[in-house]
Amino acid sequence: MSTQPAFIAGPPSEVLVIGAGAAGLSTALAAAPRAVRVLSLAEPARDGASTWAQGGIAAALGAQDSPALHAADTLAAGQHLNQPDAVARLTAAAAGVIDWLQTLGAHFDRRDDVLLLGREAAHGQARIVHAHGDATGAEVMRALGAASRAARHIELLAARRAIALAQDASARVVGAWAWNGHALELWPARAVVLASGGYAALYRSTTNPAASDGSGMALALAAGARLTDLEFVQFHPTALAPADAARNGQLPLLTEALRGAGATLIDRHGQRFMLAEHALAELAPRDVVARAIAARRLAGSAVFLDARAAIGAEFPQRFPTVFAACMQAGIDPRAQPMPVTPAAHYCMGGVFTDDRARSTLDGLYAVGEAAASGVHGANRLASNSLLEGLAFGRDLGLTLVADLPRGGETPQPCPRRHQPLAADVRAELAALLWAQAGLVRCEQGLALAAAQIERWLDQQAADSSGADLLRFAAAAVAAMRARRDSIGAHWRSDAQQAA
Ligand code: SIN
Repeated sequence: MSTQPAFIAGPPSEVLVIGAGAAGLSTALAAAPRAVRVLSLAEPARDGASTWAQGGIAAALGAQDSPALHAADTLAAGQHLNQPDAVARLTAAAAGVIDWLQTLGAHFDRRDDVLLLGREAAHGQARIVHAHGDATGAEVMRALGAASRAARHIELLAARRAIALAQDASARVVGAWAWNGHALELWPARAVVLASGGYAALYRSTTNPAASDGSGMALALAAGARLTDLEFVQFHPTALAPADAARNGQLPLLTEALRGAGATLIDRHGQRFMLAEHALAELAPRDVVARAIAARRLAGSAVFLDARAAIGAEFPQRFPTVFAACMQAGIDPRAQPMPVTPAAHYCMGGVFTDDRARSTLDGLYAVGEAAASGVHGANRLASNSLLEGLAFGRDLGLTLVADLPRGGETPQPCPRRHQPLAADVRAELAALLWAQAGLVRCEQGLALAAAQIERWLDQQAADSSGADLLRFAAAAVAAMRARRDSIGAHWRSDAQQAA
């Protein structure tokens, strides 16, 4: 669309949430009795990455465990670039989050009626709560979705793409502009919560759905909010590699729990190569495993995850989601090794928020992967992401009950046209970021990426949503250039000695 249609003004709500994943729906539920409107791209509760989460929810529930031990593991994974206060709040909230989800009807895996606690890489204790083996996100979203649909204070509006934040003359955020497929809508609110996920889907290969393309963060950037830590993107080592190497988009995740259960990584000769790479072999930190796989693939050797001996016939019962995805791709993991590739998985950075989820713009809050709340530092500990969305979403909802900001003034006209990037530019951007701003970066490649993004920006209408996305990509690349050392998930091949 290149013309600006007339807008339909929806009645004001007290709270407007953009995004209907774990963070958005937790905020909405906890904000009762505030009048909350939730905008989502797809069907609510099926909107973003939460549904796809196979890993579980980390919570210090074991007899030998404590929130302080969970916090220590979180800080170590984040290379101590985390905010310790935020980490302490997160880990202290975890047990309450599990209780709350159970009161909403979520079922977690149990033995003899006791919650089963799994162990994942870089956790010093068994503290991961799962549902149906590898379908925790789907179960959590089932429960949150049902509760949200039943809640009288929540209005769920699907098939809306937010294209700009509505701001008054003082730049206070007073709502959002959304494209409903036919027309532009204005949804005014006293508080706007960005819960739109991360930008892993900007990359060519990702474990995330297409909605996690950074467009939410792009809105915040365009409105003048501070974004931070955009250089920290976590790549999962094991997504199911597509038969067509040039394929773009979401790939099925092969959960790390498979390696936890003894599955091994082998090259095309059947050799286990992680033994020579790290003392923890397949259970080495995620970025170490991902780079080892990427190096072999770059050198022309396919890499496989072999679960035949360790899991074998139990695969369908223990990992039903992964099993279904493999069978759909024509691979029977009971009898065949699974081809794997690293894929962009999680973004530690985002909209800078304080301890009450406030952004640097009045009226705008951010939560979940859209936010840089300080909990993840340079690298996220496994199974802390659902936890963050749920715990900080609930906190934010309660904050908005106690302290809803005053409304702003009349919004300025919509500053954007709904004009996404052309499909070929979008695909080229995904390939460019994958090649030059991916798992391994260097100044030369990042400079190339920055220059190409500038060229695309020159060809894009400055007031279009596509230009906002390019400006966001440029900001991420600039953050990667600015951090010259390697730390956590940010790996510079031209500075490896500093790692
Ligand atoms: C996984 O199951 O391997 C992913 C878990 C996570 O990213 O937290």
